[in-house]
Amino acid sequence: MRRIFFLALLLVFSTSPFAAQTHVESLNIGSQRRISLGRDWRFLKADAPGAEQPAFDDSTWRTVRLPHDWAIEGPFSRQFNPDTGALPVFGTGWYRKHFVLPGSAKGRYFTVEFDGAMSDAHVWLNGKELGERPYGYSSFVFDLTPYLNFGEENVLAVRLTPENDASRWYPGAGIYRNVWMTVTGPVHAAHWGTYVTTPQVSEASAQVRVRTDVQNAGREAAKADLLTTILDADGREIARASTAIEIPAEGTQTADTTIEIAHPERWDIDRPYLYTLVSTVQQNGKAVDRHTTPFGIRTVEFTPTDLKLNGRSIRLKGVCDHHDLGALGAAVNRRATERQLQILKAMGANAIRTSHNPPSPELLEFADKMGFLVMDEAFDMWEEPKVANGYSKYFDQWSDRDLTDMIHRDRNHPSVVLWSIGNEIPEQWRADGWKIALHLTEICHREDPTRPVTSAMNGPDPAIKNSFAQQLDVKGLNYSAARYQRLLAAHPDWIFLGSETESAVSSRGVYDLPLVKYEKSPTHELTSYDLIAPPWAYIPDAEWQAEEENPRILGEFVWTGFDYLGEPTPYFSGRNDHSEDWPARSSYFGIIDLAGFPKDRYYLYQSHWTTEPMVHVLPHWNWAGREGQPIPVLVYTNAPNVELFLDGKSLGKKERFSEPVELPVGKNINDQQKIMSKYRLRWDVPYTPGTLKVIAYDNKGQQVATDERVTAGPPAKIELIADRTHIQDDGDDLSFVTVKIEDKDGNLCPLADNLVHFVLSGPGTIAGVDNGNPATFDPFQADSRKAFSGMAMLIVRSEEGKPGPINIKATSDGLKDAGTTVTAR
Ligand code: GAL
Repeated sequence: MRRIFFLALLLVFSTSPFAAQTHVESLNIGSQRRISLGRDWRFLKADAPGAEQPAFDDSTWRTVRLPHDWAIEGPFSRQFNPDTGALPVFGTGWYRKHFVLPGSAKGRYFTVEFDGAMSDAHVWLNGKELGERPYGYSSFVFDLTPYLNFGEENVLAVRLTPENDASRWYPGAGIYRNVWMTVTGPVHAAHWGTYVTTPQVSEASAQVRVRTDVQNAGREAAKADLLTTILDADGREIARASTAIEIPAEGTQTADTTIEIAHPERWDIDRPYLYTLVSTVQQNGKAVDRHTTPFGIRTVEFTPTDLKLNGRSIRLKGVCDHHDLGALGAAVNRRATERQLQILKAMGANAIRTSHNPPSPELLEFADKMGFLVMDEAFDMWEEPKVANGYSKYFDQWSDRDLTDMIHRDRNHPSVVLWSIGNEIPEQWRADGWKIALHLTEICHREDPTRPVTSAMNGPDPAIKNSFAQQLDVKGLNYSAARYQRLLAAHPDWIFLGSETESAVSSRGVYDLPLVKYEKSPTHELTSYDLIAPPWAYIPDAEWQAEEENPRILGEFVWTGFDYLGEPTPYFSGRNDHSEDWPARSSYFGIIDLAGFPKDRYYLYQSHWTTEPMVHVLPHWNWAGREGQPIPVLVYTNAPNVELFLDGKSLGKKERFSEPVELPVGKNINDQQKIMSKYRLRWDVPYTPGTLKVIAYDNKGQQVATDERVTAGPPAKIELIADRTHIQDDGDDLSFVTVKIEDKDGNLCPLADNLVHFVLSGPGTIAGVDNGNPATFDPFQADSRKAFSGMAMLIVRSEEGKPGPINIKATSDGLKDAGTTVTAR
C-alpha cells in the first residue's frame, strides 16, 4: 500500500517542469496532415495569472471538448444584455491543452489553426507567446514548430477576454469553433496557399487554374515538384500536372498551373458537383506534403438585369443567418449546421448571407455540398461604432488582415459568389466613407478578382451621394422595397439586390385575435399571422410585389432564416424602460424558430419559392370560448386552386392570385395601415370544433396537396420523433428528437405547455433542450423542457468511441410516456 503511494508521488513529480497533469493526449499523427485538437482541454472561466506557463497547475479546472461555448451554459440573467441573449458572453476564459508528440515527429513542420475563438485570443505554446487575434470570427494560424517538445509534454494555452457590449447579437464565448494541428514537411503548401479558379468554362472543356504557394521553412533553398491531380466526384483521377519549383530559404514560391478538363460537370444549386484537387509536394521523388481542395466548375454572372448561374437566369431566394445554432449556442457542430441547411433547402431557399461575419468553415463545406449561393460577409462595423466595444476598436489595425484572411480561406468554395465588406456601415453617411469602401473593395479584387463585392446598405441615398455605393460592384439594399423603382430608374447600369429584406416577426404557433398590428404583447410573444414587422421593415408580401414590379432586383436575403439568440425586437426597443420586456431574449425574425421548427411563414416562402405542390393552413383550430365567432384563416399554396372544408363541408374554392386579400399591417413600406396581398388566400370561418382541411388542386382539378388542423382534446401523451435513428459514435454527431404533446387520438395539442423530463441510457448525452419560445429563461442545458405551442426539442449527442443504443425516455405528469432509441455506431 505504502509502496504504491510512493510510486504515485514519484510519477506526479517526475515530469518537471510540468506539474502533475492528467489529460495529456498522445497525438497520433500517423500519415495525417491535419488532426483535430478538440479533445481534453482544461477550461477555467476566470482569469488565472501565469496560466500561459507550462508548469501552471490546472488540475482543478474543468475538462471540456471543443468546440465549446461557455456563454450558452448560462445562466440567463436580467443583468446581461438582451441583445446578446441575456447570457454571459463576456469575461475571461482560459483553455489549456496538454499533449505529447512522438520523438519521431521531430524535423517536421507544425501549425495550429483556430477556425475561430470568441474573442481577443492570446495563444501560448510552452510559455512562448504565439500571437493574438481580436476578431472572434476570423480563422487564424500559428507556427508551433520552434517551441515544440518531442517525446515530452507540451502545453498550448489560450486566453480569451470577450467584452460586454461588443456585438448586436449573441456572439458566444470561448473556443467555439474547431482547432486543428497541421503536420507537414518543412517544404509544404502554405496555409490557405492554394487558389483554384476556372478562367474558361464551356460545354466542351474547362480550364482549371491552380496557384499554389509552396513554403520552405528550412534554412536552405529547396527544390520540389508540385504534383496537382484532379479527381472527379467518384474519386477517379481525370487530369494531372507537375511543376518543378525552387523555393528560397524561409521563403515561398508560387506554382501556377492550368489544367484542362474535357466536358466538365458543373457545380449548380440543383446539382452541386464537386471535383477534388490533390496537391502533393514531392522532394527527391518522395511526398513531403499532400492536401486536398474541393472545388466546383461554374460560371456566375451578375448583370444589371439578371444573375446567371451556368448561363441560366436565377433569382436569389436567400436568407440572412447569424452563426448560433440555437440551444447549442455558438459552438460549431457539423450535424446542426447541415440540418439548418436541409431545412432551408426544403423551403426553397437557394442562398445564404453570413450576416454579419465570416462563417464557420463547416457552413461553407455544406453550402458547397448542398448547393447554396453564399454572400460571405466580413464586418458589421468599420471605424464608426454601433456598440461600445465592437469591432470598430480593432478596425484600423486588423481589418485588412481579417478581410484578406477571409478571402484566402473561402475563395475556393464554389458556393461563395459575393464578398460583402460590411452591413449597414455608418460610414455610408460620412463624406469620406467611400475611401474605406474603396480600400476594402480593392483588397477583395486583389485577393480574388473572380467575385464581385457588395455591401448591405440601409442608407442607399446618402451612400450614393457620398460615393460610397459607387465603390461596390453590386449594390446591396436593406429594407428598400419602396425605393427599388426610383433607384433602378436612376441607375440603369448598376447591379442591385435585396441584401436584407422583410424582418417580419412571429412566435411559432401563437395567434392573436383580433389580428394585431406591430406592438408588443404582455405574453412576450408575437402573432404568427405573419402580419407584423418593425417600422423600418415590412412583411414578405411587400418585398415580393416590389421585386415583381422591379425584376432588375436580383432577389433577396430575408432577415432571417432561423431565429437567433439575442435581438428580441420589438422587445427592448423603442422605449427607455424595458423592465417589463423580460424574459424576451432571442429573436422573433426567424422563418424557423430557435429549435428548428418551421413557423407558418416557412410555408409562405415555400409557396413562393418552390413548385412541388404544397398547401398550408393556419391558425390552429383550438378556439374554445370563441364558438360562432369568425376566425381569420389563411392558406399558403403554390397550387392554382384550393378549397377549404370544415368537417367535410366546403367553405368554397379560391384561385391563387385571383383576389388579393386585405392584410392589416399597421405599418408597411408606404406607411399604409393595410396592404393587399395576392400571395395569400383568406377565409373568415365561424369557429366550431372539428377539422379544418384545405385541399389544393392543379389546373386539371386533380388534388395535389392537403393540410389540416384538428381541434385537439386534452393532452394525453407524448410523441418522440428522432430526425436520425442512427448517428456516428464520434462524440459530435447529433440526433434532433422532436417532442410532441398529443391528445388521445394523436392530434397535436397546439396550446400545450407541459413540462417533459428526459432520461437517457446508453452512450449518449443531452446536448441541449429547447422549444422555440423566444421569451423564457429556462436553461438550454437541462434534462427537461416545457412544450411551447405543443412542441419541444431534445438534442442527443453520441459519445466518442462508444457504439450502442441510446434509449430515450420522456415523461410528463399526467401524460402517457414515450420512448425511442437512437443507435450510435
Ligand atoms: C438590420 C440589421 C440586422 C438586424 C435587423 C433587424 O438593420 O442589419 O443586423 O438588426 O436590422 O431588423
